[in-house]
Amino acid sequence: MFTSLLKVAAAACLFQLASAGVVVRDEEALIDTDDSLTGEASRPGQVRLDWSDVASLQSATYKGSNYGCKCYVGQSCWPAANKWNQLNNTVGGRLQAHIPPGAVCHNTFQGPFGNVSTYNAAACADAQANFGDEAWTVAKPAAALWTYFTNETCRATTNPTSPCTLGYYGIYVIAATTREHIKAGVDFARKNNIRLIVRNTGHDFIGRSTGWGALIINTHSFKEVTWINAYPGAGTYHGSAVKIGAGVQGGEILTQGHARSPPLVVVTGECATVGIAGGFIQGGGHGPWSTLKGMSVDNVLAFEVLTASGEFTTADANTNADLFWGLKGGGPASFAVILSVTMKTFPDVISSGATLYINGTYPSWTGGMDLFHKYANHFVDNGLYVYYEMAPFSIRVRPWVAIGKTQAQLQAILQPFLDELTTAGVVFEFMIKSYPTFFDLYNDLFEAEQAAQTALTGGWLFNHDDIANRRSQMVTAFQTVIFPRADLVGIMIGHLFNPGYNVPVADNAAHPAWRNATDFIITVLPVSETASLAVKADMQNVLTNTMDAALRGASNSGATYVNEADPYQPNWQTNFWGSSYPRLKTLRSKWDPKGIFYAIATPGTESWEVIEDGTRLCKKL
Ligand SMILES: Cc1cc2nc3c(=O)[nH]c(=O)nc-3n(C[C@H](O)[C@H](O)[C@H](O)COP(=O)(O)OP(=O)(O)OC[C@H]3O[C@@H](n4cnc5c(N)ncnc54)[C@H](O)[C@@H]3O)c2cc1C
Ligand SMILES: *[C@@H]1O[C@H](CO)[C@@H](O)[C@H](O)[C@H]1NC(C)=O
Ligand SMILES: *[C@@H]1O[C@H](CO)[C@@H](O)[C@H](O)[C@H]1NC(C)=O
Ligand SMILES: *[C@@H]1O[C@H](CO)[C@@H](O)[C@H](O)[C@H]1NC(C)=O
Ligand SMILES: *[C@@H]1O[C@H](CO)[C@@H](O)[C@H](O)[C@H]1NC(C)=O
Ligand SMILES: *[C@@H]1O[C@H](CO)[C@@H](O)[C@H](O)[C@H]1NC(C)=O
Repeated sequence: MFTSLLKVAAAACLFQLASAGVVVRDEEALIDTDDSLTGEASRPGQVRLDWSDVASLQSATYKGSNYGCKCYVGQSCWPAANKWNQLNNTVGGRLQAHIPPGAVCHNTFQGPFGNVSTYNAAACADAQANFGDEAWTVAKPAAALWTYFTNETCRATTNPTSPCTLGYYGIYVIAATTREHIKAGVDFARKNNIRLIVRNTGHDFIGRSTGWGALIINTHSFKEVTWINAYPGAGTYHGSAVKIGAGVQGGEILTQGHARSPPLVVVTGECATVGIAGGFIQGGGHGPWSTLKGMSVDNVLAFEVLTASGEFTTADANTNADLFWGLKGGGPASFAVILSVTMKTFPDVISSGATLYINGTYPSWTGGMDLFHKYANHFVDNGLYVYYEMAPFSIRVRPWVAIGKTQAQLQAILQPFLDELTTAGVVFEFMIKSYPTFFDLYNDLFEAEQAAQTALTGGWLFNHDDIANRRSQMVTAFQTVIFPRADLVGIMIGHLFNPGYNVPVADNAAHPAWRNATDFIITVLPVSETASLAVKADMQNVLTNTMDAALRGASNSGATYVNEADPYQPNWQTNFWGSSYPRLKTLRSKWDPKGIFYAIATPGTESWEVIEDGTRLCKKL
C-alpha cells in the first residue's frame, strides 16, 4: 500500500516531451495572422450570439424531479447515421467512435454500437507498459489521466476475458486539426443537443475533460507557437510575448523559450505535460514563477476563441473585454473554446534549488510539518516557490525554487529553518544546488508523475494569516488528511507561493484571495479501482466532510482552486471566486446561456446535474 501511495505522492511531472509536430514561428509584430480571425466578428460588439438553432433538451424524471437532458445514443433524438457521416466529412474524416485505451487488452469492447473485437497482443503490451505514463495517455484522443472519473471500466488488464465498456467516457471524438473542425463540433453539439467536451491534455483531476456519451473535441494538435518581440495589441503592455496554440503543453513552451536568445520563460504550471491554453489558464494557473510574476492569467494579453454560438472572435482589453476578464480564471469550459492565448514572456535568469526529505514517526514527522510551515511565510516573502508532498511518516520538499538567486542567497533564506530542525532533533536529508537558468533547475528537480490514478482529489488555500495564527490547527488538520479514518490513508501535495507578492491586485476572475496566498494544498484519497457505487459515495463523503473539512476549519482564506479542489464541496462558488462570482454568472448567461459547454462546479451550472449514477447530463427544471 505504501509503495502505491508513494507513486501517487510523486505528483510532479517528468519532463519528457516529444517535441515532434511543434510549429514555431517568429514574428516581429502582428499577432492576428490567422485569416479566419480578421473578419467583422473580431471587432467589438460584432459577435453574433444567436441561440435560435439550439436544439431543445429531452425531458426526464429522476428521483421525483423533472429534468431537461442532453440527447444520448439510443434515443429518438439521437442524430441518424447520415448526420454523423456529414459531420465526419466536415472534419475531413477525423471523427472516431471512441474506444478506451485499455480495450486492446480485452477480447471484446462492449461499446454503444455493439461488440468490437479489440485484443491486440503487441498493443496490449504497450498499453500495460505505459498505462501509468502521462505522455502516452495525453496522446490518446480522449483518455483521462486521473481515471477515477472514467469509472474504471476498461483498464489495461492481464485478463483478456474481463469486460471492457465505455464507462463515463465520451462516445465520439473529433481529432481536430483546424479551427473549422472545432467549429463543426461545437455547431453539431449545439444543433443536436449533444453533450460537448473540449479535451486538451486530459489532466483535469475531477473528470472535467470526460463525460458519459459526449462528443469530444480534441485540441492536442494545435501546437502553433509565435514569439513576439513587441506586443502590438490592446492594453498598455508592449513588451515581449508569445502566442500559444490550444494544444501546447507547459514543457514545450519552456523548451522553446529556452532555445531563444536570450532564453525566455512563461508562467506555466509546475507540470510539463499540463496544457496552457485550456483548463489551466481558465482556472487561473499557478506555477514556479507565480511568486515573482503572479498567476498565469496575470500575464495574459489576448485570447482567440470560438463562441458557443459558433463565431470566431478575439478577447482582449479592447475587444469583448468582459469575456477577456472571465476567461482569465473564471473556470474551465464556461464561456468559449480557446484557440490561442497570448502571454507575456520574461527573460530566464540564474536560479537555485534545494530539496529536503524527512522520514520518521512522531515527533519528527509532525515536528517537520510544523517547522516547515512556521517558515512558509518567510519563504514566499523572500520570493520563493516551493513544491512538497506529505504522506504517512514522510515529508518531501522538492524543490525550493529561488529564481534569480544564488545558492548562497537561498542557503541564507533556509538556514534558520534548517537550524531549528536540527535543534528539534529531526533527522533530514538536504541538498542545495545552483543552475545557470530556471529551465535547468526545472529539468533537474521536478519529478515524474503517474497517470491512471484512481483517486479523489480536493484541496484548500492557506493564506499568510493562517500561517501566522493557526499553525497548530493546520498541523492537526494535516494529520486528519493523511489518516482520515482507521482504514484509509490520504496524501497532501503542497505549493508555497504568493501571486500577490508582485501582483497585489489583478484585473481578472482569479479569486482575489490568491493575493494573500502562502500554501495551496491538494488532498488525495486513493480509491480501489473496483469500488462499488456505495464505496465511492463513502469515499466522497470522507474527502468532503473529513479531509477537506479539516483544512477548511483550520483556515480563514475562504478560498480554493477551481482546478484542484473537490467539486462537491459546499459553497464552491465563493470558494473558487469570492466576490467575483456574481459577475461570472452574468457572463455565463451572456456567452453560453443554453449550456452548450459544461464542466462541474463552474459558473452558472447550479441547475445542471449528472443523473442516474454518473451518466446523463441534465438541467433541473
Ligand atoms: C500532475 C498534475 C500537475 C498539475 N500541476 C498544476 C500546476 O502546477 N498549476 C496549476 O495551475 N494546475 C496544475 N494542474 C491542474 C491543471 O491546471 C488542471 O488539470 C487543468 O484542468 C489542466 O488543463 P488541460 O487543458 O491541460 O486539461 P484537460 O483535462 O484537457 O482540460 C481541462 C478542462 O479545460 C477544458 N478545456 C480544455 N481545453 C479547452 C479549450 N481550448 N477551450 C475551452 N475549454 C478547454 C476542458 O473541457 C476541461 O473542462 C495539475 C494537474 C495535474 C494532473
Ligand atoms: C470517419 O471517416 C473516416 C475516413 O473515411 C473513417 O475511417 C472513420 O471510421 C469515420 N468515422 C466514423 C465515426 O464513421
Ligand atoms: C458481446 O460480448 C459479450 C462478452 O463477450 C457477450 O457476453 C455478449 O453476448 C456479446 N453481445 C453480442 C450482442 O454479441
Ligand atoms: C460505473 O461503475 C459502477 C461501480 O462499478 C457500476 O455500478 C456502474 O454500472 C458503472 N456505470 C457505467 C456507466 O459504467
Ligand atoms: C527516506 O526514505 C527514502 C525511501 O526509502 C530514502 O530514499 C531516503 O534516503 C530516506 N531519507 C532519510 C532522511 O532517511
Ligand atoms: C490580505 O491580507 C491583508 C492583511 O491581513 C488584508 O488587509 C487584505 O484585505 C487581504 N487581501 C486579500 C485580497 O484578501
